[in-house]
Amino acid sequence: MRVQVGIVGAGPAGLMLSLLLHRAGISSVIVENRSRAYVEARIRAGVIEHWATDLLDELGVGARMRKQGLVHEGIEIRVNGVGRRIDFKQLVNKTITVYGQHEVVKDLIQARLAQGGTIEFEVSETSVDKLDSDQPIIRFKKNGEPHEITCDFIAGCDGFHGVCRPSVPKGLLTEFERVYPFGWLGILAESPPVNYELIYNHHDRGFSLYAMRAPTITRAYLQCDPDEDANKWSDEEIWAELKRRLGPEGETRLKTGRIIEKGVTAMRSFVVEPMQFGRLFLAGDAAHIVPPTGAKGMNLAIADVLFFSRALEAFYKTKSTTLLDGYTTKCLSRIWKAQRFSYFMTTMLHLNPKDGDFDRRRQLAELDYVTSSKAASTALAENYVGLPIN
Ligand code: FAD
Ligand code: DHB
Repeated sequence: MRVQVGIVGAGPAGLMLSLLLHRAGISSVIVENRSRAYVEARIRAGVIEHWATDLLDELGVGARMRKQGLVHEGIEIRVNGVGRRIDFKQLVNKTITVYGQHEVVKDLIQARLAQGGTIEFEVSETSVDKLDSDQPIIRFKKNGEPHEITCDFIAGCDGFHGVCRPSVPKGLLTEFERVYPFGWLGILAESPPVNYELIYNHHDRGFSLYAMRAPTITRAYLQCDPDEDANKWSDEEIWAELKRRLGPEGETRLKTGRIIEKGVTAMRSFVVEPMQFGRLFLAGDAAHIVPPTGAKGMNLAIADVLFFSRALEAFYKTKSTTLLDGYTTKCLSRIWKAQRFSYFMTTMLHLNPKDGDFDRRRQLAELDYVTSSKAASTALAENYVGLPIN
């Protein structure tokens, strides 16, 4: 098979890229090692930045998000039971939309297939080859049969544990990493959200986040050890801890319900530079990871592929490689700002077991400052809703 762009991975990055390329008249094929049902049910991100909601609309895939997504004009930051609101609308005149990543993935898959696009699900033994030639190759097996796709370019959209990044010859990529000494125990539950907006909650027992997916569905996270076993937590223990961390009103305000899903996510900041080798371009979690506290991961993945699609469009229209050559620089300028913001939110809100008394007092002062100073809360709001994209 011959295609202009071969895409490895049907997450938000790979799927968005295939739609952006279709709009530009560029052919692509996606290979994905999981089933369609699996990727459509994988519970992950929930917050979409304002410009990304506009992009989904532009591509004709925003209708369900506009109907079912919850538009939020702010968040609450709560410190040991006392909450203060950061009003995005007032501070920066922008909003965010709470809409599950798996719903975005469903909308993208449906749209791409309706366009006649090809997504090869349930492939195995994916590999990429001849990356420094102008005809790189993706190989994989489907139903035991070997397949080969010859491409002009390969997009490595296969997430943090994918095969594309490790296929770059040793020594050519530099990795920047920070691993945090805590993780999140996340739940999805049939219970009404505790608040109409997200609560980012700093507590002496550890961080917690109260989010939602619908007016009847709660999504919540508890700070835990990075290697915690989610199954060691009973549903009762999870609800009790979520109540305790919410403060004195937790008992009356938080309504419990059936927990549909639970899991633990470890926290890491990671960036690889450059994001390109020959004709392989990395995008999304394949190239960078942020701790989830800033709600930036999926949004960054979408930004990368927007930049990549523009570069490919310029290449096919004019044969110019200027934007392709500048891909890493263009992406990293946004990525490092998102890394900075995610690090800031993570270290401000979590209890770090290694912190001493000085750091604890500094942390409480930071929380007080950020939630009381107009300048500081404007900076938080500006980053949370998403920095301008151009
Ligand atoms: P992925 O979604 O990981 O997709 C990669 C795809 O490649 C997968 O489908 C995988 O199956 C496939 N694949 C892997 N290896 C191969 C292979 N060898 N061959 C073929 N296919 C392969 N981000 C936000 O923006 N906002 C949030 O609120 C937010 N909250 C989060 C909360 C949690 C608990 C977690 C875990 C993450 C959160 N994120 C959030 C981050 C966000 O989910 C990720 O950044 C996002 O999924 C990245 O998209 P991606 O397409 O780059 O990678
Ligand atoms: C959600 C996840 C996040 O990481 C975050 O910062 C906010 C909300 C969520 O799953 O809804």
